[in-house]
Amino acid sequence: MKITIIGTGYVGLVTGACFAQVGHKVVCVDSDAAKVKLLQGGGIPIYEPGLEEMVKENVTAGRLSFTNFIKDGVEKSDVIFIAVPTPPQADGSVDLSYIESVARDIAAHMTSYKIVVDKSTVPVKTGEKVAETIKRYSKSKVEFDVVSNPEFLREGFAVDDLMKPDRVVIGVRSQRPVQAMKAVYQPFGSPIIVTDINSAELIKHAANSFLALKISYINAISVICEASGANVQEVAAGIGMDARIGRRFLDASLGFGGSCFPKDLSAFIKISETLGYDFGLLKEVQRINTQQMDRFVKKITETLWVLKDKKIGVLGLAFKQNTDDVRMSPAIDLCQRLLKDGAHLRVHDPQAMEKAKALLPKTVTFVSDMNKVAEGCDALVIATEWPVFKQLDLEQARKSMTHPILFDGRNLFDVAEMEKLGFIYKSIGR
Ligand code: UDX
Repeated sequence: MKITIIGTGYVGLVTGACFAQVGHKVVCVDSDAAKVKLLQGGGIPIYEPGLEEMVKENVTAGRLSFTNFIKDGVEKSDVIFIAVPTPPQADGSVDLSYIESVARDIAAHMTSYKIVVDKSTVPVKTGEKVAETIKRYSKSKVEFDVVSNPEFLREGFAVDDLMKPDRVVIGVRSQRPVQAMKAVYQPFGSPIIVTDINSAELIKHAANSFLALKISYINAISVICEASGANVQEVAAGIGMDARIGRRFLDASLGFGGSCFPKDLSAFIKISETLGYDFGLLKEVQRINTQQMDRFVKKITETLWVLKDKKIGVLGLAFKQNTDDVRMSPAIDLCQRLLKDGAHLRVHDPQAMEKAKALLPKTVTFVSDMNKVAEGCDALVIATEWPVFKQLDLEQARKSMTHPILFDGRNLFDVAEMEKLGFIYKSIGR
């Protein structure tokens, strides 16, 4: 199939590369000329395992190209995916101005039947608005169909998640685009659900907020574990063995972040309100998430007493492992809280240091070797679940710190091990 992807962010670029990988001819469009130039030169603006090689291979094979002009994209393809940002607004609603402007551009350049697919995460009933907009702005009055096709990619695992999706969700208003959409996804071999547009849009918000709920649930359980001397990892293992619950997304932490969960939760609560439902359960998910960070910072202040002029090492700046993304990162939030209390920070992240520099003051010391972060520190903090941190030279860290105190916001280390090594070790729910 000939496919156009509008927007080359975490979703658009990975989706375009994977579509090309399975044999489709893909044109990726971005309004940022510098980004298009970078991509045409083989550069990748984001870190996603496996993405760079996949883009290079498909550009060389002539299946993947980049352009700054929507006109090229619309004319060359039958199926046009919208994968532009839908940023959150202060009141929790979603800014759909990028979606609207792309819909208008597509309308202006359509000269034959097109399938316009919304892949961006949008509030339910957006599909109808996109269809109205294209109808209103299309000069040629050609026929088209709008489809909802939400993505379920996890950052850091996006290539895997797209090459082997658990399911593909396609929301349509008529049967006409179904065959073409099945032809797009047939090479991936995953189950395809065809439903109406509103249900497809809701599946996205319902899925994401359920995943966030699972995390806040185990984080609430972690509080009870600390109060009762239980171990939250044992509890997670025990309940996770029930096939109806499942072990994944039951890792207690200092809280979830990222560009999706916080935004999607607020958006879903807002949408529900406009539909006349007060989604109290999701407000509680948000409250528990904030409380989890408050409790973690309290552990640090209770142990260190005065933070002013204390030297604290922070391992992890990205919002999760395997990514360079620091948007709504709990690790960055933690750094900012410690800085506010006067602490001096030495920080490290395998991928996210460059992006973090834009969010942290110049007084923060960025350390390229994770084993040097602890030097002279009064405490060390694990803020992101990078597996490589488990290889930390704890002996060297203990010797190079003023006091062997470690706060583990991701339960990476073993409690007994750490105490045997002589650390004052505080973690989550254990
Ligand atoms: C999420 C959804 O998983 C994905 O399906 C959707 O398409 C986009 O939003 P993402 O935000 O990239 O993906 O990351 P995810 O792996 O879900 O983690 C989100 C946050 O939750 C991270 O901060 C992560 O560290 C945290 N988390 C995750 C936990 O604290 N505990 C867990 O058990 C899992």
